[in-house]
Amino acid sequence: MSADWLARIAAAGDLAALEAERVAALGKQGAVTALLKTLGGMTPDERQREGPRIHALREGVTEAIAARKAALEAAELERRLATEMLDMSLPVTTGAQGSVHPVSQVMDELAEIFADLGFSVATGPEIEDDWHNFTALNIPETHPARAMHDTFYFDRLDAEGRRMLLRTHTSPVQIRTMMSQKPPIRIIAPGRTYRSDSDATHTPMFHQVEGLVIDRGIHMGHLKWTLETFLKAYFERDDIVLRLRPSYFPFTEPSAEVDVGYSIEKGRRVIGGSDGWMEVLGSGMVHPKVIAACGLDPDEWQGFAFGCGIDRLAMLKYGMDDLRAFFDGDLRWLRHYGFAALDVPTLSGGVGA
Ligand code: PHE
Repeated sequence: MSADWLARIAAAGDLAALEAERVAALGKQGAVTALLKTLGGMTPDERQREGPRIHALREGVTEAIAARKAALEAAELERRLATEMLDMSLPVTTGAQGSVHPVSQVMDELAEIFADLGFSVATGPEIEDDWHNFTALNIPETHPARAMHDTFYFDRLDAEGRRMLLRTHTSPVQIRTMMSQKPPIRIIAPGRTYRSDSDATHTPMFHQVEGLVIDRGIHMGHLKWTLETFLKAYFERDDIVLRLRPSYFPFTEPSAEVDVGYSIEKGRRVIGGSDGWMEVLGSGMVHPKVIAACGLDPDEWQGFAFGCGIDRLAMLKYGMDDLRAFFDGDLRWLRHYGFAALDVPTLSGGVGA
């Protein structure tokens, strides 16, 4: 009887066949189970004789099943290891998908460069009200500068009856920061801006970065040094030459437009040197009226501000010549000009990636 069972268990070719043998022997209706049940109807003498034999049978069968199961599982594992072999020497065929857009890359570079100078990053809403975008910046209702901005206005007024618009520059973040933080203030504010304008160098949505410093005793020298330090770090060249031209912005006095010098190398314009000049940003000393509009005393607090087109900064450094392609979402362009997600710009490792 016992040898019979052991032979059948040893012959089970797979786990399903083994399970069938287990049920046939040890299941509720199983043969061994049935033998166990006969113990109850035996006389004590019979039970003493038969009991150990039947229990030994059950134990032997249970052990044989466990051993056969382990052997079958090991064989199955062997088989899978042999057939599912991976060739680790093969190169991975799917490269990393996606890339960092040059605008995001430049914003990261700016944050890194200015963090080193003690500036933090501030933000403000893209849907602004007239007061923050114009009035507080010393551009009253009748001011001709309002017409200069080709503003996108919303038809409806907001809950407080204010006229809403898409911000035409990042300068309203100056106002929001001065009203919510105590000086000294050192911030940059990168973000989207909007003007109704479209050609090879203008898109209705574009990006600016605003810079603002408010402290005691701030003068144009601080402005020039900061811009020079920033542009040298950004273009990763020491031969950056700046030219400050007198200009006009309602919210700065005096105001200066800043050109950066370029030279011609192998027929191409490269930033650095002074063969020619390219305008890169607007700047000036924050107008006392703007400081006062934010509730600060202009006799105590002075500062400088600047505003710079981020898209243009990207074009100058990375060599694109059509701004519109920035926002076409063309994968070929993104693959060509995009940056690897793990190449985070750092001052020590290079902000240029
Ligand atoms: N807001 C100005 C523009 O968009 C730029 C600027 C910012 C000028 C800060 C001076 C100071 O043209």
